[in-house]
Amino acid sequence: MPYDPESTQVVPTGFIKTSTSLLRHLPQPRKKKTETTMEVFHLPTTSPLLTSIAAASILLFLLVSDNYSDRFATKSPPPLKFTHLHQFPPISDRFQAVHLPEISEELLAHRLNLRKATKTRLTRDEKLELGLARARAEIRRAAKVSNLSTTVDYVPSFAVYHNPRAFFQSYVEMERRFKVYVYPEGDLPITHDGPCKNIYTVEGRFIHEMEHGANGFRTADPSVAHVFFMPFSVAWMVKYLYESGSFDQTPLRVFVSDYVRVVSEKYPFWNKTTGADHFIVSCHDWGPIATEGNPFLYNTSIRVFCNANSSEGFNPQKDVSLPEIHLYDGDISPKLLSPPDTQRAHLAFFAGGNHGPIRPIILKHWKDRDSDIRVYEYLPKKLDYYELMLKSRFCLCPSGYEVASPRIVEAIYAECVPVIISEKYVLPFSDVLRWEGFSIKVGVSEIPRLKEILMGVSEAEYSRLKEGLRIVRKHFVLNRPAKRLDAFHMILHSIWLRRLNVRLA
Ligand SMILES: *[C@@H]1O[C@H](CO)[C@@H](O)[C@H](O)[C@H]1NC(C)=O
Ligand SMILES: *[C@@H]1O[C@H](CO)[C@@H](O)[C@H](O)[C@H]1NC(C)=O
Ligand SMILES: *[C@@H]1O[C@H](CO)[C@@H](O)[C@H](O)[C@H]1NC(C)=O
Ligand SMILES: *[C@@H]1O[C@H](CO)[C@@H](O)[C@H](O)[C@H]1NC(C)=O
Repeated sequence: MPYDPESTQVVPTGFIKTSTSLLRHLPQPRKKKTETTMEVFHLPTTSPLLTSIAAASILLFLLVSDNYSDRFATKSPPPLKFTHLHQFPPISDRFQAVHLPEISEELLAHRLNLRKATKTRLTRDEKLELGLARARAEIRRAAKVSNLSTTVDYVPSFAVYHNPRAFFQSYVEMERRFKVYVYPEGDLPITHDGPCKNIYTVEGRFIHEMEHGANGFRTADPSVAHVFFMPFSVAWMVKYLYESGSFDQTPLRVFVSDYVRVVSEKYPFWNKTTGADHFIVSCHDWGPIATEGNPFLYNTSIRVFCNANSSEGFNPQKDVSLPEIHLYDGDISPKLLSPPDTQRAHLAFFAGGNHGPIRPIILKHWKDRDSDIRVYEYLPKKLDYYELMLKSRFCLCPSGYEVASPRIVEAIYAECVPVIISEKYVLPFSDVLRWEGFSIKVGVSEIPRLKEILMGVSEAEYSRLKEGLRIVRKHFVLNRPAKRLDAFHMILHSIWLRRLNVRLA
């Protein structure tokens, strides 16, 4: 994604001061009573029989109710050491521990027995873990049964999902349980806001939906949250803190470092997991650079990035690939709302600047070479970009300066089969979606044979890919307000999977 210097403002000197002063005037966190001792049940001691009945029924209640509200807060466990976080063995071949340590149902049952013996309640953390353990068990169960759940908005297709049953069950468990705490710290414009149109749309739209949407995932009570969101916008940092042309990204790192410091001093949550259950969202190319401001944010937290280059520190085990959705004025172009099902005259189409390592190869081999393969560097004024997408069978989506390209989502909207030409790009939602069900991957070395490869796709295979595109389209649409299974929910689901420690693919 080209970084457009035209759109940035020159920031007054002393930007670092701006960053720290922004943080100095942060709203005070709500005062929360911190109870420090684990409470023991005060059960009637008159009859041992009554005592055990009461204990058993409370335990039963704990077991059956996830919504049980804990009035007996307990002391937080000691902080997890960073080195502990990746040492947990895989759950099975299919479901691997990818991020946080998890407590198995067996271990929880064991703890429940211990609690029973010592007459103490489950800690909040244990209850949270119990809910997650149940979600995992439900997902595993769903993955095994032969029934497929179908709803009005979900078509279980083995062509486009790695495991449609496991995905849908996981999605439903997310709707049922997942809670996100959004830190209130920080001022506008850099926190609690982000771009809502143009190339970084997804950054602002995610922040707004998370903070103000009626989606039910946000909780005001951090003690019931599974994950913690730090709602700053790297695109706005670049706009307000970066000195145009300086190539000095220090202010971004400083801002991020300050933000983490502030929340880790005010709240106990960051230190508890050294950030492993914290996440940030950035579509700007410089998201990864900004997160260098805190080594644990970089190496441990869930970073949701458009710039998902696995050669540049993006770790698909814990990080999430964010689709780049380019909405010029904040909405999908009316041309792409319902692509007409007509014959497509061109075999393939691409128009875009000659930057990054891959595009020069495409332009060299295909620009002005073949009337079936419409490859342009700059689209002539009389031609319309989306019209050409709608008239082409395949849309070439090579990486540019960075791995992600908004063309992929535009091609999905236009039902023009994306031809993905990139290296080290972790595709969005690839833990759930089988990209081969609705796109084609072409290696850089195969670019000279592009026409032969695309001509080799049979009509049957092509209709299958088009059908796949129609199924996955909704997962890439940003709705206002968000709708079930749309881009907002799919992003959140990717975060949920990492917190849950389950891999569906
Ligand atoms: C399969 O679906 C039917 C109808 O929805 C239901 O009655 C049955 O219990 C399901 N079987 C399993 C194993 O989930
Ligand atoms: C978290 O750890 C940091 C560094 O050790 C410390 O400065 C901070 O006070 C701790 N936060 C809390 C809430 O105890
Ligand atoms: C992440 O961890 C690696 C290896 O432990 C370390 O070398 C690196 O500096 C860390 N990254 C950042 C941004 O601190
Ligand atoms: C991905 O990262 C590698 C390593 O830094 C870099 O060489 C490559 O150009 C990046 N890919 C893109 C498309 O930017």
